[in-house]
Amino acid sequence: PAKANVPALVIGTGYGGAVAALRLAQAGVDVHMVEMGMAWDTPGPDGKIFCTTTSPDHRSYWLRTKTKAPLNYFLGFPIDRDISRYTGILDAEEFGGITVYQGRGVGGGSLVNGGMAVTPKRQHFASVLPSVNPDEMYDVYYPRANAGLGVGLIDPAWFESTACYQYSRVGRKHAQRSGFPWTFVPDVYDWDYMKQEAAGTAPKSALAGEILYGNNHGKKSLQKTYLAQARATGRVTISPLHRVTSVTPAGGAYTVTMEQLDTSGNVVAVKQVTANRVFFAAGSVGTSKLLVKLKATGALPGLNDEVGKGWGDNGNVMCGRANHLWDPTGKLQSTIPCSGIDNWDAGGAFAEVAPLPTGIETYASFYLSITRNPYRAQFTWNAAAGKVELNWQTAWKQPSITMAKTIFDKINSKEGTIYRTDLFGVYKIWGDHLTYHPLGGAVLNKATDNYGRLHGHPGLYVIDGALIPGNTTVNPFVTITALAERNIERIIATDL
Ligand code: FDA
Repeated sequence: PAKANVPALVIGTGYGGAVAALRLAQAGVDVHMVEMGMAWDTPGPDGKIFCTTTSPDHRSYWLRTKTKAPLNYFLGFPIDRDISRYTGILDAEEFGGITVYQGRGVGGGSLVNGGMAVTPKRQHFASVLPSVNPDEMYDVYYPRANAGLGVGLIDPAWFESTACYQYSRVGRKHAQRSGFPWTFVPDVYDWDYMKQEAAGTAPKSALAGEILYGNNHGKKSLQKTYLAQARATGRVTISPLHRVTSVTPAGGAYTVTMEQLDTSGNVVAVKQVTANRVFFAAGSVGTSKLLVKLKATGALPGLNDEVGKGWGDNGNVMCGRANHLWDPTGKLQSTIPCSGIDNWDAGGAFAEVAPLPTGIETYASFYLSITRNPYRAQFTWNAAAGKVELNWQTAWKQPSITMAKTIFDKINSKEGTIYRTDLFGVYKIWGDHLTYHPLGGAVLNKATDNYGRLHGHPGLYVIDGALIPGNTTVNPFVTITALAERNIERIIATDL
């Protein structure tokens, strides 16, 4: 059968893919986006598109028969439950030493993440992307990304008064009493909408435990920002439930092979498209897995030896602290974190004060720390098993734990409190088995040139978190977006 021909094909619809699609379309290029997850635009039988964190159903996980909650115990009891296998929104992808959480669907990670939209401190940027000129990033591309994403700050007066951020205020009090800098964290959640939720004048989302499995209201996911703008150009088509499996050279262009999936994950059709240019935006893990396989199997023989290298977990580690009875954190907790503790320069940790939206008073303070973990892992092709593996070791989290302890040991000693030991297992303090922030695997200026052009195959680009070598010092998506804005501007100006 004749193959369709498209000028530009984008694999994945997360931050990098959405930026590429919008800017290419605005430049007059027709774009075909291919997304393995669902469209997430149709309500289920309960009238809602997304399920809540407290009542996960089939919509919650990508092709699992049991949930795999990041925080999988409570009071020492496992909380995971059986679900039916479905192309749900959150993928808990298991490698040997780490579970990597990722969004699946049109919008990628923006569907499931906390929306925390943090620009790294400028003095740290050289450690994030050493080959990129910081002036252009901080003058042009970070502002462009923040505007495109709709980033905003909580109203500080409302923060002081609302019940749903008592947990953050307790976090601030404890941080400040131990002498740590505490800061508000910007977010893409619509803060005015959250005020209406609190006032009872709008349907609740952040105040109804919605986050990990999608927000029905209030969060400005990519579906509402970059992708809405991209669609409005009339030049962008999106194929959900299509998973790219191969990209091979075809006479100056590329043949892209994809599997169409049903909602049980079965392959119902295999299709091919010819594309003049292909943008890998399948996320750090998705892009790395494709490139490592395609290089090893000879489909893209020109890729260099940097492909698959430089992967990091952004130093993610979680923990909880048990507060005294006079320090309740509140039974109503907004799922959207809005503050953090900054001990990066002194101790290598930036800790977000995170919610435990259980609906009951837990007397717990919960934190996701981003740390300066030095370890980098590599993806490799296991030909016998026919799959890509990652050599991350669980023990490599130890530096992250040590860095997080520079904050929480001090707070515990000042407050006379202890760590919670019931949130990640039976007597286990640290959530050291996971990351929300996979980064690297096709690092800028190594696997690609300094603008994301893959070495060895003109017309192939990487434009997502795979470009970033393992750490952004803060939450990553603003940096992923800003770097994509920078790179696509150059690619449009010089390659098209
Ligand atoms: P992203 O992962 O967003 O998109 C890749 C897309 O490609 C996905 O939709 C995927 O389904 C698709 N895909 C993969 N392989 C494919 C294939 N072979 N064929 C077709 N499609 C394919 N960050 C932050 O800055 N602030 C925060 O608050 C949070 N919080 C947070 C919470 C949770 C639970 C998670 C899982 C993640 C976060 N993050 C975050 C991280 C953030 O979401 C993440 O860094 C970005 O989404 C990565 O953007 P990318 O464009 O690299 O890929």
